[in-house]
Amino acid sequence: MKNILFVSSEAVPFIKTGGLADVAGSLPKAFNKDEFDVRVIIPKYRIIPDHFKQQMQYCTHFYMDLGWQNQYVGILEMQLDGVTFYFVDNEHYFSGDQAYESGLWDLEKFAFFSKAALSCLPAIGFHPDIIHCHDWQTGLVPVYLKNVFNNNDFYWNIKTIMTIHNLKFQGTWDPKTIMGMTGLPAYLFTPDKLEAYKDANYLKGGIVYADYVTTVSDTYAGEIQMPFYGERLDGLMRARNNCLMGIVNGIDYDEWNPETDPMIPYHYNAITFRKEKYKNKCAFQEELGLEVNADKFMIGLVSRLTDQKGLDLVDYVMDQICADDVQFVVLGTGEAKYENMFRYFAWKYPGRVSANIFYSNERSHKIYAACDAFLMPSLFEPCGLSQLMSLRYGTVPIVRETGGLKDTVEPYNEYESTGTGFSFANYNAHEMLNTINYAKHVFYNNKREWHKIIDRGMAKDFSWGSSARRYEDLYRML
Ligand code: ADP
Ligand code: GLC
Repeated sequence: MKNILFVSSEAVPFIKTGGLADVAGSLPKAFNKDEFDVRVIIPKYRIIPDHFKQQMQYCTHFYMDLGWQNQYVGILEMQLDGVTFYFVDNEHYFSGDQAYESGLWDLEKFAFFSKAALSCLPAIGFHPDIIHCHDWQTGLVPVYLKNVFNNNDFYWNIKTIMTIHNLKFQGTWDPKTIMGMTGLPAYLFTPDKLEAYKDANYLKGGIVYADYVTTVSDTYAGEIQMPFYGERLDGLMRARNNCLMGIVNGIDYDEWNPETDPMIPYHYNAITFRKEKYKNKCAFQEELGLEVNADKFMIGLVSRLTDQKGLDLVDYVMDQICADDVQFVVLGTGEAKYENMFRYFAWKYPGRVSANIFYSNERSHKIYAACDAFLMPSLFEPCGLSQLMSLRYGTVPIVRETGGLKDTVEPYNEYESTGTGFSFANYNAHEMLNTINYAKHVFYNNKREWHKIIDRGMAKDFSWGSSARRYEDLYRML
């Protein structure tokens, strides 16, 4: 039996801001339970829904040094779908209105979390063979493990994996402040270790000290070794190239299942979608106050509203996208300029554009089920889960060929009748617009072909199965 500990700043169903939560919450369920005991540790945020908090059981508590401070660490525990989740309790750090707040405060919070996740292991009686860390928030785990916990034999043969879900976020601040705050030794703050471009860098520390580094698609694993996508760490990624691998994400096929999904009004599958899926569209049009018309081409977009997602392209040609024969539904929150842009177009095109500027899991399910096409023109996309959800719901993705989008959406080829979606290569608004118009053309003028695109998309398998086997291979190898 191998013991694995996932350390993550978010995990469904407890707390989610993006795809990281989907991965940290659903991947652990997919491992072979006879061989792997995979457990997950996350912060016990105040904003975790009460009905979960009521199910958590007290495990242990102690006090831990963090730099010059001495902090309370409580550990709670809960089982969900056969997976053990641990929660790090500390009201000073985790009582905010959001999981992520601001710069230095988040750096302190996740330094605390990372060190606490290591410190609690002897007390909770779980000895991991491998600690699997996710993103910058947990970058200090391998750093603490190899440089602070190395004088305690409990920790000697623990291996670490650092999975990069997004290289853009690195967790950086001036080294002196971070040194004092984390209590990490001074020798770590050099350019071959924790420092990058004169700042202390959590993610870099994780990448340098982890035994293995993975990211969430093959294409992104290659891209981050190049300057354009490398976020100034491409040199480091090239240096670690022999311990770097891309493993594409999956999604939870039980939660995301148009046949059983309790959040959508009409159920369907790969055979019945022709007769049933449009009913979800009509119900949704009604709910959103759009013109109720089963034949209208409805495009959906569910996303954090940030530059990463290619929204400046959308902004540039939104008037042309929103032609008479199109409905556009967006769900997302993020940068004010994008929130306001979508609000403006909803005002300009009532009955055609619906701007849902908030977070709602239920509404996201309805968009995946109701829309004909799903737009994801990302500037970069480590993996992307929304396009996988769309494929699962028979909603045709329109994507830019980058990262995981390139690895999971096969472009439609009308001559060979292949492909599961539409894609374009260059980060160019008119190339995107042409691709949307091409999709619209097939939708309106060649329904049989459109349905065959859906057939092929729904036949794809993006459940965790094969990717979980690849992580298992990696765990065995380490
Ligand atoms: P990222 O992790 O970069 O945000 P992904 O495509 O990997 O992108 O994952 C995004 C996840 O967050 C998907 O499950 C998507 O449905 C969900 N999501 C994003 N914005 C919202 C929102 N406003 N309401 C509900 N779900 C959202
Ligand atoms: C990040 C990436 C996204 C990926 C997700 C889960 O948030 O932006 O592409 O799917 O992590 O790995």
